[in-house]
Amino acid sequence: MNLKATNATKLIQDVYIHDTPGKKEWVLVTGASSGFGEEFARQYAEKGHPLVLVARRLDRLQTLAETLRQQHGIEVVAEQVDLSDVAAVIQLHQRLRERDIAIDILINNAGIGDFVSFPEISSDKWDRMLNIHLKGSFNCCQAVLAGMKEKKYGKIVNVSSVAGKRGDFIGNAHYTAAKAGIIGLTRSLALYAAPFGINVNAIAPGLVATELSDEMSSEMKATTISRIPAGRLGRPEEIARAAAFLVSEDASYIFGETLSVNGGSYMD
Ligand SMILES: NC(=O)c1ccc[n+]([C@@H]2O[C@H](COP(=O)([O-])OP(=O)(O)OC[C@H]3O[C@@H](n4cnc5c(N)ncnc54)[C@H](O)[C@@H]3O)[C@@H](O)[C@H]2O)c1
Repeated sequence: MNLKATNATKLIQDVYIHDTPGKKEWVLVTGASSGFGEEFARQYAEKGHPLVLVARRLDRLQTLAETLRQQHGIEVVAEQVDLSDVAAVIQLHQRLRERDIAIDILINNAGIGDFVSFPEISSDKWDRMLNIHLKGSFNCCQAVLAGMKEKKYGKIVNVSSVAGKRGDFIGNAHYTAAKAGIIGLTRSLALYAAPFGINVNAIAPGLVATELSDEMSSEMKATTISRIPAGRLGRPEEIARAAAFLVSEDASYIFGETLSVNGGSYMD
């Protein structure tokens, strides 16, 4: 018997395998009231996972939660939280702990758009954008990490954007800086968390048909589509499926990656 190989295999199993047969992981989806977040929640509800759904609009979250409970017989918690507010995020996790809910999978997706050009980015706009996207993602990662480390298991996907890799043609640097920051956050956290059996990755969607992209003028949208080799906008389910891959065991050896899902509009 090759003792070295056996010990190495055992170590890998101890560190990486989450062995609770039959138990479905708890999934926390931020920005779940519409767009990719809602779509991801629907896909994971279909697989029978219990869900924590977080966003700004409680009425929409509650309607979605009730639909998913009835359709799939799963537990769904709906919480209205402003994720840029660290105290509110900490309180959310205290409430979850009181209910014995420990998050196994985090989809850090909440965000806003703001299609303005560089000279129009005020200091307030800059702060709001960075606070929601970058600080909000950091807040959520930090809040779930201790529980994941304890279990030696966890999956995190942060939602960046093609704009974070390439920049944006209109010069909305607050959005692109926040999304580029998410790529850095993902890499650093991936390096820190990998030894604890936690995979941290990101996705970088191109333009996708959601409420966020509806804020674009039709002219700007047409110009953007003309630059997409696939010739169309992405669909929320295509983005959700890419995130689902990264949190699946099929991606168990992927760490710190930012997966492009952009119709070929940017390749790196
Ligand atoms: N739609 C696109 O073309 C596109 C492209 C690349 C990346 N993205 C990113 O994908 C993510 C989802 O976007 P979408 O297109 O589904 O948009 P969307 O507007 O449909 O959904 C955004 C969600 O984020 C939530 N949210 C916003 N600010 C929040 C806050 N402070 N606290 C809590 N929740 C908050 C909203 O309530 C909503 O549920 C965003 O991070 C966005 O930047 C979108």
